[in-house]
Amino acid sequence: MTADLAFGPDFRWGVSTSAYQIEGAVTEGGRGLSTWDTFCAEPGRILNRDTGVVACDHYHRYAEDVALMRDLGIDTYRFSFAWPRIQPTGKGPAEVAGLDFYDRLIDALLEAGIQPAPTLYHWDTPQPLEDAGGWLDRDICDRFADYAGILAARFADRVPMWITINEPMVITLMGYSLGAHAPGKELLFDALPVAHHQLLAHGRAVQALRAGGAANIGIASNHAPTWPASDSVEDKEAAQLYDNLINWLFADPILLGTYPSGFDAAMPGPVSDDLAVISTPLDFFGINHYAPVSVGAATGQADTAATDGILLPPGLPFEPRELSGYPKTDFGWPIAPAAFGEILRTFKDRYGDRLPPIYITENGCSFDDPVDDQRRIDYLDGYLRALKQAIDDGVDVRGYFQWSLLDNFEWAAGYSQRFGLVHVDFDTQVRTPKASYHWFRDVIRQSRIHQ
Ligand code: NOJ
Repeated sequence: MTADLAFGPDFRWGVSTSAYQIEGAVTEGGRGLSTWDTFCAEPGRILNRDTGVVACDHYHRYAEDVALMRDLGIDTYRFSFAWPRIQPTGKGPAEVAGLDFYDRLIDALLEAGIQPAPTLYHWDTPQPLEDAGGWLDRDICDRFADYAGILAARFADRVPMWITINEPMVITLMGYSLGAHAPGKELLFDALPVAHHQLLAHGRAVQALRAGGAANIGIASNHAPTWPASDSVEDKEAAQLYDNLINWLFADPILLGTYPSGFDAAMPGPVSDDLAVISTPLDFFGINHYAPVSVGAATGQADTAATDGILLPPGLPFEPRELSGYPKTDFGWPIAPAAFGEILRTFKDRYGDRLPPIYITENGCSFDDPVDDQRRIDYLDGYLRALKQAIDDGVDVRGYFQWSLLDNFEWAAGYSQRFGLVHVDFDTQVRTPKASYHWFRDVIRQSRIHQ
């Protein structure tokens, strides 16, 4: 029997981007300094000393990019507000020019028949807030709630879908625990309060958005199966701890109102009161998924593909291992569509009725194939088939947003990793749709994978 590869007429198709990765224009429109401006200016932090100063120049070319989206046929565009454009110092009144930029973008999207789905925070913390402690300081939760209120007041009339924070796990792990991302702190387990403050800020933002008239609110959290490197007890225990750290430490508080066992004690503040805020019911749960991770007990054989090239310091009880037997993207990430289905089914089983509808808020791959990117088509085809299978198995997934529309600034990897459906020549800013763009357009048109 031929599998039914149709997603149906109501399924939402989109692409995702983020402000620092595409906007450029970092000193225009009254924008304040962000932690990523600071981090990129520090020698040795970013491959080739790349920065987001120009990026895809989307701040000036947004109309061209919206036209590309319209021709692609998406119904939803997930982008992020740059907090330092809205509040240059992270507090106080809004910068009008910042609000005006997003007004122009949102109006252009609506004009093109595309639903805006903004993320409030995709890693670009206003530098003055970082100087005051950043995500280590509880005060940022108040600041984030104020910021959410400003956005709701201005945009709730035209924005039908909201995402609070992008990948709180990555900010905790890469930003504060290992130092591969801004703000470059290497606190290891002392970074755990960062997770708590982001979760609390998320809950506070959900409440502030709703109070400001916004509806249809969720988060974009990254999740992946953690596979033990072997059947040994040591590897299984190491994988379970890692699984708690990268997956359930973030999803359980939101969806169950509890931390995985043992983690409460590491968190600051009145944890049970905070958990009541953190678990404020959501309208949807956004999952970003890229690749599974293999984890074993620490032996000094760590693979750094899962940690942005950072070798974990000695003394930790676990280490990511190379996942052999799988093809890899150009970033070294294993291509394993079955893992996508697995994590979705795990969510359904773990959370049952507590799980709201899911959106795939990111999925995609890095391949350095300028225009004829058959490898990206193959990746997306495999992942969409796995998604369809999970839906057929009863996981309530309502939409799929591909990462990303454009080749863009890939954080510590600079411009070396190309995730776009559209090629960007970073010398000329010329955009050229790749074969995957045309392929994805056909998928969207029919809302089904081609046979
Ligand atoms: C996750 C992040 O949200 C996004 O910023 C990044 O570019 C992609 N994954 C690819 O690594």
